[in-house]
Formats: sequence, structure tokens, C-alpha cells
Amino acid sequence: MATEQTLVLVKPDGVARGLTGAILARIEAKGYALVDIRLVEPERALLEQHYAEHEGKPFYEPLLDFMMSGPSVAIRLAGNRVIEGFRSLAGTTDPTTAAPGTIRGDFGRDWGLAVQQNLVHGSDSPESAARELGIWFD
Ligand code: TYD
Ligand code: MG
Repeated sequence: MATEQTLVLVKPDGVARGLTGAILARIEAKGYALVDIRLVEPERALLEQHYAEHEGKPFYEPLLDFMMSGPSVAIRLAGNRVIEGFRSLAGTTDPTTAAPGTIRGDFGRDWGLAVQQNLVHGSDSPESAARELGIWFD
């Protein structure tokens, strides 16, 4: 069994729209284990670390502002191949074209903000998961 842990965030749009429960229900139905969960209002310094790979891109500053616009729910999630599995549950980055049946495909709206408000984050590799869990939980 390739048991792994990943960082999941319900981003400010998901919390503000009251979708935390619906998103958690999908995660639990899939069989993943909630190891830790907390409501976080991140400071800019935390987000600079979290999104370091995107620094300098046109969407970077608006993304940080959005992520500081309200609380997120941070989840330490465990399960067999959960890193890949949660990304599959979440759907592709752009909610406009994310497949129906995915979190972003079912709940994401086209706000005219490119892909900024797409409800959830999931780590994209074991290295990212270890790094991001350290940022949000340790
Ligand atoms: P990225 O890591 O590419 O996507 P994912 O969340 O699917 O791993 O981008 C991080 C976040 O940055 C993404 O969830 C939303 C935001 N973003 C934009 O606002 N505009 C963009 O053009 C891209 C690519 C991402
Ligand atoms: Mg990413």
C-alpha cells in the first residue's frame, strides 16, 4: 500500500460559499482519512512560501490577495495514492472546463477571473506535499 499524505485546502471561495461540508463529504466518501484539520487565515509570508513556484507570474499578486481575503480550511489528508487521487477528485485547474463529477467541475463557476477561484488546492507530488504540510501544519 502506497499510503501517503497530502495538503488539501478549501480556499476562501469554498469557505465563503458554504461548500466546506460538501467538499469534505466527497473526500470522506472516497475513503481518505482526515489526520488534521484547521481553519487558517494565512499571512502573506506563508502564502509566499506556499506559492513560491508561481512568483513573478501575472496571476501571482491577485492570487495572494484572494488567498488573504478570508479563511481557508487546511487538511492533512492520508490514504493510498491520495496525492494523485485528490487531484483527480478536484478536477483540472480551470473550473470552466473541469469535468463534471469533480469538485471544480461541479461547484466552480466562471467568475471572469481566469482560474483564480477554483475552490480547492491539492499538493501535486510527494515533494510538494511534504513541503506544503510543513508550511501549513508544522
Ligand atoms: P497551479 O499550481 O497551476 O494549479 P493547481 O491549483 O491546479 O495546482 O496554480 C495555482 C493556483 O493559481 C490555481 O489553483 C489558481 C491560480 N491560477 C490563476 O489564478 N491563474 C492562472 O492562470 C493559473 C495557471 C493559476
Ligand atoms: Mg499547483
